[in-house]
Amino acid sequence: MKSTIVLLGPPGSGKGTQGEKLCSEFGYVKLSTGDMLREAVKNGTELGKKAKEYMDAGALVPNDLIIGMMKEKIAAADGKVILDGFPRTIEQADALGEQMDVDIALNLDVDDGELVKRITMRRSCPSCNAVYHLLYNAPKNEGVCDKCGAKLYQRDDDTEETVLNRLKTYREKTMPLIGYYEGKGKLVTVEGVGSIDEIFEKVKKAIQ
Ligand code: AP5
Repeated sequence: MKSTIVLLGPPGSGKGTQGEKLCSEFGYVKLSTGDMLREAVKNGTELGKKAKEYMDAGALVPNDLIIGMMKEKIAAADGKVILDGFPRTIEQADALGEQMDVDIALNLDVDDGELVKRITMRRSCPSCNAVYHLLYNAPKNEGVCDKCGAKLYQRDDDTEETVLNRLKTYREKTMPLIGYYEGKGKLVTVEGVGSIDEIFEKVKKAIQ
């Protein structure tokens, strides 16, 4: 089984959802730049203050801030690692390549219409970062996290307008990573439409 996995794919393609399942079933450690940045915003750190305006606009946080943050996290990570939301630019991918070898870049392919539906109806846990969907993956008790009991919320960047900006940013800045990892012989694309469990079966096969 591969030990370093980069999860690629547009916003809402299921990177966080599939990453969580890989952690529960196979003991991966997931490093999610989105979760780290939201935590920094919540705690009002210097990084959080700088990142918030980019996140709210659906733009990428500048490379130097992200690469600095991830260098420390990657250095501290032990065992099998999933990178969710990093790298997102060629510059970030080069920085990652200097620090560790990537075994597989798993690209979740989902069409735009489905992405907008998924994101605008997503609900997230502010405490344990679990994600739900009002229709496809609803919590057992409305508005409450199944895992830790915290009150669920809607992310500030999960509005339709911001989602469209995030998709544009993805196409301009992150899609080139598909060719980048393909050129290195590391890319595997998985069709990301279907039930969460159906996609997980495909993901498991891809990482063997
Ligand atoms: P980040 O948090 O990484 O957001 P994202 O990449 O836009 O991805 P999402 O979290 O929106 O979606 P996902 O693919 O994880 O899908 P999920 O599993 O939740 O980044 C946020 C912001 O931070 C960025 O815009 C940027 O500003 C900044 N940032 C982060 N990393 C950065 C970096 N490296 N460089 C610069 N800036 C950075 O699923 C979505 C929904 O669909 C959920 O409701 C889920 O329940 C549902 N769902 C999942 N799978 C299925 C399925 N198969 N069928 C039906 N519903 C499903």
